[in-house]
Amino acid sequence: MSQSSVRVTPYSSALGAVISGADLARPISDADFAVIRQAFLDHGVIFFRDQHLTPEQHLAFARRFAPIDINRFFKAVDGYPEIAEVRKEAEQTTNIGGGWHTDHSYDQVPAMGSVLLAREVPPSGGDTLFASMSKVYEALSPGLKSTLDRLCAVHSSRHVFGDKGGYAKTSDLGARIGNAAAAVQDAVHPVVIRHPETGRKTLYVNSAFTLRFEGWTAQESEPLLRYLYQFAARPEFSCRWQWQEGSLAFWDNRATWHYALNDYHGHRRLMHRITVQGSPIPALAA
Ligand code: SIN
Repeated sequence: MSQSSVRVTPYSSALGAVISGADLARPISDADFAVIRQAFLDHGVIFFRDQHLTPEQHLAFARRFAPIDINRFFKAVDGYPEIAEVRKEAEQTTNIGGGWHTDHSYDQVPAMGSVLLAREVPPSGGDTLFASMSKVYEALSPGLKSTLDRLCAVHSSRHVFGDKGGYAKTSDLGARIGNAAAAVQDAVHPVVIRHPETGRKTLYVNSAFTLRFEGWTAQESEPLLRYLYQFAARPEFSCRWQWQEGSLAFWDNRATWHYALNDYHGHRRLMHRITVQGSPIPALAA
């Protein structure tokens, strides 16, 4: 295999790396792909600048990693059902993804990752935060780790995307989110997963989609989940990415959380997101 010209620069001590020397508009050599893929696994999220891709080029990059996992709820880009639009208009107040979450954790087989490309960005604001859930897990006490290691949690899309869900109650949503009838999935996943590729243990609950621990009521689950969410949101586990038009981020949904900041009212922000398929999450001991 020829040598790669791609460079990987760590972005923060918690997670993230900036990839330079790659033109994603062109076919990626096997050598470059190996470096990019390893950086994705090592750093949880990888960032690129100045990637002014056509939808076909965006799709081709995503497909190098896995087949596309089409999101059922987001409005798709016209002519491209595999590309979800993450959009907020100047007159709208609600953004999409404005809280810590992991994409598709409500699915039985959650998505492996998401490839987000910035098409239009506000003059300032609209950054995205990412958090390393393996760093979070590693920082917990041995006692709490061994308790969590034995638990599973129930995740759902109903309370977010369903007809009585959070987005349905939002008056200025427009046609950005729809298909509430498809919000019927619940899934049970281990609270701590072993990442299928890195082998690292990772905390796998999130405040958007996790309802409760399996076998516990929502009321019983709430204090411990709240503790975990507060702990995981500590700044030392996160990084903050500032977008420019043509910036691209590819994050590992099995290893990270993300949070789209909603601090740019009066301006448009338009992103294109492609989600790629993952594999079933095995029980921790497997
Ligand atoms: C998302 O939650 O997938 C969107 C993130 C963003 O718009 O920054």
